[in-house]
Amino acid sequence: MEEERLSNMEKEVLIALKDRGGEASPEALVEDGMEMVKVMNASSWLQSKGLVRIREGIEKIYSITDEGEKFLKEGLPEKNLLKKLLKGKKSFDEIGNDETAGIAIGWMKRKGWCEIEKADGKKFLKITDEGKKAAAEKSIEEKALEALRDNKTADEKILQILKKRGAVSEKEKIVRTIYLTEKGKNVVEKGIEIKDEIVQLTPEIIKSREWEKKDFRKYDVRAFAPAIYPGKHHPMMQLIKKIRNIFVEMGFKEIQGNYVESCFWDMDVLFIPQDHPARDMQDTFYCKNPSRMEVDKKLLDIVAEIHETGGKTNSKGWGYKFSKEESKRVLLRTHTTVNTIRYLIQHPEPPAKIFSIGKVFRRENIDMTHLPEFYQVEGIVYEEGANFRELIGVLKEFYRKMGFEKIRFRPAYFPYTEPSMEIEVEWNGKWMELGGSGIFRPEVTEPFGIKEQVLAWGLGLERMAMMILGLYDIRELYFSDIEWLRKLPLL
Ligand code: PHE
Repeated sequence: MEEERLSNMEKEVLIALKDRGGEASPEALVEDGMEMVKVMNASSWLQSKGLVRIREGIEKIYSITDEGEKFLKEGLPEKNLLKKLLKGKKSFDEIGNDETAGIAIGWMKRKGWCEIEKADGKKFLKITDEGKKAAAEKSIEEKALEALRDNKTADEKILQILKKRGAVSEKEKIVRTIYLTEKGKNVVEKGIEIKDEIVQLTPEIIKSREWEKKDFRKYDVRAFAPAIYPGKHHPMMQLIKKIRNIFVEMGFKEIQGNYVESCFWDMDVLFIPQDHPARDMQDTFYCKNPSRMEVDKKLLDIVAEIHETGGKTNSKGWGYKFSKEESKRVLLRTHTTVNTIRYLIQHPEPPAKIFSIGKVFRRENIDMTHLPEFYQVEGIVYEEGANFRELIGVLKEFYRKMGFEKIRFRPAYFPYTEPSMEIEVEWNGKWMELGGSGIFRPEVTEPFGIKEQVLAWGLGLERMAMMILGLYDIRELYFSDIEWLRKLPLL
């Protein structure tokens, strides 16, 4: 049974291990005539089948440096000096004071080969008995270097000293041993036969009818196989695509806009008063360069009048002095409603079912449910007879298609809609706000010839993504944790 599931290479490794007494290094198997890559490949398969284990250890490899070669050829500096001292003591002047001399004297003293003598106000170096003995034989360092040269083992402590002296260098090498497990031994014991079997079926084998005469290698469906992670889009991009499909299915047309907008388009046309808290530097990102943007003069006049007095609408406006300068300020759009209103003003003839998906920017403090940069999906239904019930219906339908059954609507306030409501979805036992909606006020529509009711909404995407992906913290979406991204199923 086991044997049938082994490849010929695996069998060869098992047999070679048995012949070598149950364990061997990969290098040894290569000596037996196998290829290293194949040995390693077969061994790791055998390991996953529990027939062998691969043990790894670290071994230090020493090699002789150029300095070491010099020592071998010319002798160690202390040894050379020692030989000179055999002929009699030498003054420091005679020895010289270059670097080699310094090193030689240092080592000689440390080894007790010489002593310093003072005479006639001069310093001399004199050989000791210990030194005389040492001069007659090879030093431990010399022996170690020679052993290394002859590929023999040398004392670790001496090699470390030679390393400090720059005569040898040290490298670490991973050494592997492959050995048979009990299970592996049993399989080999029973006898392994290397057969010429078909491992992969090719058109040639089928055509030549070779398969009729040969055995097939059995598949091991339980065998370990590395997981393959194909490329895919980021979950946010997948979500956007899904949302886009849903609105298209529901008969909507997509429009686009820019990140950089004027206050006029982002807020003024939407009847947001110029002293509204959302306009605060604390809440909105304003641009420095350019800090002002041209705005259509005619439109500006209309909007100024609406804010101040309500113009020809029934509204009384906000009753303050509108600043056209303020309108020209440049900002990063704070909502995608800017796309919708511009589209409506440019296309005032009904009907229209429009949506847009894009990033918006707000100076939010980052926390589990807030990001300063997030996606919104915005939409409108503009047609004769459009009403509040239809608005609720469209939003319910959208969320149902996204997989949310439990949603609720709460009265809310936006300066540009009346009535207005917030949409909430149940999450972790709490209600989480996902977006706003309402019917555009006459101050927003009438001055531009928009005659019918406009149902509008703007919904956040990241919070929805968080719920769909089962995240606890909104920031996880943008951590780019590659493991998480890989394992995430497609939406
Ligand atoms: N613009 C609002 C927001 O950013 C959402 C909204 C859109 C509300 C359209 C009403 C109508 O939260």
